[in-house]
Amino acid sequence: MSQTITFQVQPGGSLRGEIRVPGDKSMSHRSIMLGSLAEGVTHVTGFLNAEDAISTLEAFRAMGVKIEGPVNGEVTIHGVGKHGLQAPAKPLYLGNSGTSMRLLSGLLAGQPFDTVLTGDKSLESRPMKRVTAPLALMGAEIITQENGTAPLHIMGKAGKLQGIHYDMPIASAQVKSCLLLAGMYAEGETSVTEPAPTRDHTERMLNGFGYPVTREGSTARINNQGKLTAARIDVPSDISSAAFFLVGASIAPDSDVTLRHVGINPTRTGVIDILRLMGANIEVLNEREVGGEPVADLRVRSAQLKGINIPEYLVPLAIDEFPVLFVAAACAEGQTILTGAEELRVKESDRIQVMADGLQILGVDAQPTKDGMIINGGGHIGSGEVESHGDHRIAMSFSIAGLRSSGPTTIKDCANVNTSFPEFRDLATKLGLALTSF
Ligand code: S3P
Repeated sequence: MSQTITFQVQPGGSLRGEIRVPGDKSMSHRSIMLGSLAEGVTHVTGFLNAEDAISTLEAFRAMGVKIEGPVNGEVTIHGVGKHGLQAPAKPLYLGNSGTSMRLLSGLLAGQPFDTVLTGDKSLESRPMKRVTAPLALMGAEIITQENGTAPLHIMGKAGKLQGIHYDMPIASAQVKSCLLLAGMYAEGETSVTEPAPTRDHTERMLNGFGYPVTREGSTARINNQGKLTAARIDVPSDISSAAFFLVGASIAPDSDVTLRHVGINPTRTGVIDILRLMGANIEVLNEREVGGEPVADLRVRSAQLKGINIPEYLVPLAIDEFPVLFVAAACAEGQTILTGAEELRVKESDRIQVMADGLQILGVDAQPTKDGMIINGGGHIGSGEVESHGDHRIAMSFSIAGLRSSGPTTIKDCANVNTSFPEFRDLATKLGLALTSF
């Protein structure tokens, strides 16, 4: 099943040209979930045809939803309505996808059938108590492994969930979304307060399907009275995939890249803010709104970056972009300090440790801390062999580092790039990165 893939990058070069990176992963997941629960036929364009989003799609097929595609990013979902899902015949295998598992646990807690959610080694070692604990307060019954990890055995509690108010201890869009989805099946109101703004695609898309979610300051509220009506969803390009080229074109001399139709929802644009604070030359062009989400073309040209103290309020708004931002920091003059980012330790890998280890192998002065990293940049990036630990974003980040390294970089264990960005190698080489894989 899991093939091993190694990336090799020859040093140097520039990135030049115009590309459209694939569809937003968060929105692709949500389009399948909400389209399945809607009444009528939902048409999705720009859908991310990558393993994580396909895990969600297959889970809904297994629960009786007829879904056509994806073909060229188009998916047609024959919605079954809020109460139309059927018991799957076997456990739902969700691969590497934390979003699928955490959002589905909320959605499935209030169904009239039981389900089991499983995943790969990485997913089955990630913390799930953050969703099962508040769901238990709503009356859900979910059996986890002893340490709170998956497989999750979810006993369907149709008609028995109670709305709660939950003050989230961590800024997590997955926890917020999980509880809002459970709230669609709970008596009374469910409200969630977040300690800092996190991505709001669930709230926006629910409203786009006609299901009321209200927002008051940092609190989102939902109840079980709404229904979803089929919609057209245009998924923009994923800013988290665009981020590799925002950094790549910034650090490689003589670069000029335009990334078309990128989602610039303000809960996702921390990477642009951080890079601009570092001195990056990024232009946001042709801003427009598509299906309730802001979209733009991003033009980025080479710049001499400088080290900064990354403001903590930007951490949740750039949460998936830190691996590649560490590469930017390694190329920046001076010191970059990240704090308040302990969440990075429980992503697809421990992204603080794994990036620090790899950067050190490449000769970069990178010191991991409990909740972030201190990088003294501007020196030399050397060559060598680094481990991605099966983490897609680590693999792509070290590929980008190759643009400034003094010799070839070998990156092991890159098959999981297919979870979010299967076209990475092709698009990166089209722009000028000397990347091969074997
Ligand atoms: C996601 C939320 C974030 C992010 C993940 C996708 C989502 O996770 O890291 O890649 O689609 O809601 P957390 O909510 O754990 O921060």
